[in-house]
Amino acid sequence: MIGYIGIDIAFAADCLRKGELVAIPTETVYGLAANGLNEAAVVKIYAVKNRPQFNPLILHFPDFSRLQALGLHLPDKALELAARFCPGPLSFVIPGSPKIPGIVTAGTPAVAVRVPAHPVTLELLQQLDFPLAAPSANPSGMVSPTSALHVAAQLGDKVSYILDGGPCRVGVESTIISFLEERPRLLRYGGISLENIEAVIGKIALPEAGFVDNPIAPGMLARHYATRHPLVLGDAELLIRQAHQLDPIPRIASISLTRQFKDLPAAYQFCLSPSGNLEEAASRLFHAMRQADDMDIDLIVADRFPEKGLGLAINDRLKRAATADTLVFNMPLSD
Ligand code: TXA
Ligand code: MG
Repeated sequence: MIGYIGIDIAFAADCLRKGELVAIPTETVYGLAANGLNEAAVVKIYAVKNRPQFNPLILHFPDFSRLQALGLHLPDKALELAARFCPGPLSFVIPGSPKIPGIVTAGTPAVAVRVPAHPVTLELLQQLDFPLAAPSANPSGMVSPTSALHVAAQLGDKVSYILDGGPCRVGVESTIISFLEERPRLLRYGGISLENIEAVIGKIALPEAGFVDNPIAPGMLARHYATRHPLVLGDAELLIRQAHQLDPIPRIASISLTRQFKDLPAAYQFCLSPSGNLEEAASRLFHAMRQADDMDIDLIVADRFPEKGLGLAINDRLKRAATADTLVFNMPLSD
């Protein structure tokens, strides 16, 4: 069943006041929103996403002046970043407050906050007297939605309303920075590049490398953004050549920045930005992953993106999409 999609902000606000779930557009990805101060409403998010309860949620505000009434405040360096990039694809993990339900913070003494840069959702947030808890509007572990139709396809019958704000401009989730320690720490690569962050507040600590069982940002879970078909990440040309030596030869779709591969039909190749623009590529990434996944194929081969700018966020998402399933193809796993 397809949920009810529309552009009625007042209706969305009413649903949220009643403790119902509404999918909302943001500049990064669509969110699955509930009243962030209503525990019974937030519980529904976990149920609908099948999300592990240890994975806390980001609270969305129309502006950061609303933090104070909840006993929250941004440290100085966070304020500097907020002045430069917010509203925008940046989330701050800061010390929590007893006014925030434990279900939002997963019982941790910290809370994540952000002001999304989408006019529709900013208007919605203005009309509400509570922040919205909103994870990405996909079943846990699957590819995040960057259009209202993506949400409808995956969660359409589980939300009261899908507020349509068009395709997401940024296309990967917000960058998350923790301010719990002396030195700010990057928890997730996202829509604001590391270079741009460090240009404002200087060097920050980076996420701990590799898979962590009990991650500080559980979005760092190794297996995430999973496509139905196995996905391998690396030098795509090499990977395609190796795959073509297998018997039977797998049918392949490719994802790359600019490269095209002579051994694959053009229709099976997703070049995310022919001009090599990493921001454009990020905005197309999740849609391309879905399109590739919907084709009659056996394998998705993703080319490693340049390790700079939004290329870091793109590689991060592709790494998490690459799973051990790829072993069945005897393909080298991405690191
Ligand atoms: O762009 C975005 O951030 C989107 C849109 C909808 O705003 N939201 C999003 O939410 O990506 P979600 O739940 O899919 O990812 C949020 C990440 C998770 O990895 C979660 O673990 C981390 O933020 N997080 C939330 N609260 C935290 C906290 N108190 N401490 C550490 N990490 C936290
Ligand atoms: Mg998510």
